[in-house]
Amino acid sequence: MTQFSVIIPTLNEVDNIDPILTRLFALNRASGSFEVIIVDDGSQDGTPDKVHAWEEKANVRLVERKSKPDLTASILAGVAVAKSNVIVVMDADLSHPPERLYAVVAPVLDGSHDVAIGSRYVPGGGIEGWPLHRQWLSRIGGWLARPICDVSDATSGFFAFRRELASTISEHAHGYKILLELLLAGQGKLKVVEVPICFHDRTHGSSKLSFSHQWIYLQRLMTLAGGSVAIGTANRYVAVGLFSIIIDIGLFQLLIYSGAGLSLAHIMSFFAATAVNYTLNLKWSFQSQHSDPLRWHQLGRFLTVSVMALLMRGGVLAWLVYGWHIPPLLAIFPAVAATAAINYLGHAFYVFPVNKNS
Ligand code: GDD
Repeated sequence: MTQFSVIIPTLNEVDNIDPILTRLFALNRASGSFEVIIVDDGSQDGTPDKVHAWEEKANVRLVERKSKPDLTASILAGVAVAKSNVIVVMDADLSHPPERLYAVVAPVLDGSHDVAIGSRYVPGGGIEGWPLHRQWLSRIGGWLARPICDVSDATSGFFAFRRELASTISEHAHGYKILLELLLAGQGKLKVVEVPICFHDRTHGSSKLSFSHQWIYLQRLMTLAGGSVAIGTANRYVAVGLFSIIIDIGLFQLLIYSGAGLSLAHIMSFFAATAVNYTLNLKWSFQSQHSDPLRWHQLGRFLTVSVMALLMRGGVLAWLVYGWHIPPLLAIFPAVAATAAINYLGHAFYVFPVNKNS
């Protein structure tokens, strides 16, 4: 009987197939109790042929996807054909020690937990051979996820879960964050345990993690946390922000040139830019998410964020002009930049938040 299914996504991993399958099947503890499903995304280096050779001698199956390569979609394709109700996901490149397979799957197999994470960041876990920048990226990815899902290693690619949980994953999920989606879909009700593993950097082949995967991860984190940062929204939001800044700084300069005092120029230019910003964001940037013509509570929230930004900008302006004797016409630039962060976070999370499943 197949106790559990091990899903291994692959993209050009020809040199890793023999070592990982040899080590997995050498475990031999309950021989034949698990199957291995390799989900390949159109590797060009002969990976599928290597796997075919194993299909004849061990409980291994190959799933070949023809659509656009995607890690999450590959794992879900593996789940769809799995024969058992307990799934383990791991990388092909031996970065996840196969010898920890039973330790990771045991808490789900015995029914005590819904998800078990092979974790690098709990006592006993660790990382070997990863360059410093990858260690930092991984750490930062984990820290950013911490407030919305309380685990140490939310970006781990080595984890076990009950098969039915896969159906809770958002259809919008893709890329390198299937574990995060799984945890979030459980809405804090899942029993999750972290099992220490030592991650070893690969010796064959190369990582496929790109900047765009990291950007998608960040965007998804923000959306899951309740912010609006879909790509289309972010682009339009930035365009509106830049336009508002031009109005803000332009009007400020004009008023100062015309002899207006610092406070008057600051307040008038700020409110003109804020009115333009709110109208354009409501009607254009966030239009698809908010079809109601006018929302008073939203306007109230917008004004709250605006007042905070106004105070912040006024403080920075006063500090630069009176404390550092920087001319107002120059001081307005860093003052506007300083308020951009407050505006962005306030708008994305408080004024125009989105549905978390989108
Ligand atoms: N089918 C498929 N499609 N497999 C893929 C794809 C894809 O688009 N992209 C990557 N893979 C496979 C790789 O072949 C490898 O087996 C595994 O997914 C991990 O990919 P890597 O590119 O090697 O990831 P990494 O070494 O940078 O790993 C880090 O991030 C991963 C994702 O969270 C580590 O933290 C891993 O533990 C983690 O799984």
